[in-house]
Amino acid sequence: MRKPIENVKVFAQRRAKIAEEISGKALIIAAHPEQIRNHDVGFAYRQDSNMYYLTGFEEPESFLVFRPGLKPETVMFVRRRDPDRETWDGYRYGPEGVEKEFGVDKAYPIEDFAKVAPTLLKDVDGIYYRLLKNKEADAMVLSVLEKLRLSQGRTGYGLLSIHDADTLLGEHRLVKSEYELTHLREACEISAQAHLAAMKFTRPGVSERQVQAVLAHHFLMKGSAREGYNYIVATGNNATTLHYNFNDQTCKDGQLLLIDAGAEYNYFTGDITRTFPVNGKFTDEQAEVYEGVLKVQKEIIAMIKPGVVFKNFHDTATSLLTDLMLELGLLTGRKADIIEANHHRRYYPHGVGHWLGMDVHDAGLYYKKGEPRTIESNMCFTVEPGLYIPEHDDMAPANYRGIGIRIEDNIRVTDSGCEVMTSSAPKEIAELEKVIGQA
Ligand code: GLY
Ligand code: MN
Ligand code: MN
Repeated sequence: MRKPIENVKVFAQRRAKIAEEISGKALIIAAHPEQIRNHDVGFAYRQDSNMYYLTGFEEPESFLVFRPGLKPETVMFVRRRDPDRETWDGYRYGPEGVEKEFGVDKAYPIEDFAKVAPTLLKDVDGIYYRLLKNKEADAMVLSVLEKLRLSQGRTGYGLLSIHDADTLLGEHRLVKSEYELTHLREACEISAQAHLAAMKFTRPGVSERQVQAVLAHHFLMKGSAREGYNYIVATGNNATTLHYNFNDQTCKDGQLLLIDAGAEYNYFTGDITRTFPVNGKFTDEQAEVYEGVLKVQKEIIAMIKPGVVFKNFHDTATSLLTDLMLELGLLTGRKADIIEANHHRRYYPHGVGHWLGMDVHDAGLYYKKGEPRTIESNMCFTVEPGLYIPEHDDMAPANYRGIGIRIEDNIRVTDSGCEVMTSSAPKEIAELEKVIGQA
């Protein structure tokens, strides 16, 4: 039997927190769809973050219907027990097991969704549901809404109105509780230690894939269930591809290695990038660009405290990195004109950070009613400036071509500043040069 990995009270408390906000309406969450290859072989399954956030339930083909104030309030639809399928795929709770172990008021077999869900929605005046995330679930939900409409005869009413569930839940997920922070910190620490292990392992001749293996080994050995996103292990010019993930080249003497990797721990993920020389010693040009990017990263981190507008970090990073591009001779002209024309994006084509939590690009609005958002205590995000100079860029001075650098840390906003949750991964040049290749 596969026990819920956390105390189910946590999930009930989260539901209670949103109950008032959606009063009179129902919230419907669908499980993440299963990925099957060739109609036969499954992939490792990860539950939809919102489904996990509110139930802790990790099986596919399930729904949560939450109706604050009504009875039953928390209803789930789940796969029946099936000894034959369980022989192949493992334990299922079934409706009885879910009622017993997950603290829900009522659970039905998923086959009953079409019949039972319309009765559950009779007494609400709208639903929260995220459309277009799971096509099969959409078809089931829309057919339930149509059935409900038809059951009301010729009243003139249309379908229940649909509000976006992910926007609603994103606002709750954005500010982390103490309990959630213990998981996120653990994810960050496992990730940081894995980066350190990868640094120690790296030397000329190792492959990107072997470095990935060191990271994966460390993640799994420390209790992480999986990586939070595709491993990016990019040597030399590969680092100028932002989300490079072929990871099939050899790390060569004289190149930099960029690693962007994060472990997931109890559904929270780290997201760290470090860049360092394969042979353990920065060249003058590599050090020059690296120090420039590191200085920008530190300046952004120094700005963080409650009340600061998140967009300021982007704007400041753009401004400081454009200064760096001018210093290095990558661009010429007036800074304001360069930024206005987006020319800086030639070497820095992404933003400086994003919310971090259960998903690597976590839920939560960046703008509210058109206004850029102000950060608050216990929001968590990344700070990840970078500079990428492709080897075939004939506008760039030749000695900088093929250098791609990103430095990414994970931040929690405190009452007066911030906590860097990934500080165990070295990023100072002297620290890096001490550990690279020392395994
Ligand atoms: N690892 C993806 C990102 O940094 O956004
Ligand atoms: Mn990131
Ligand atoms: Mn990253």
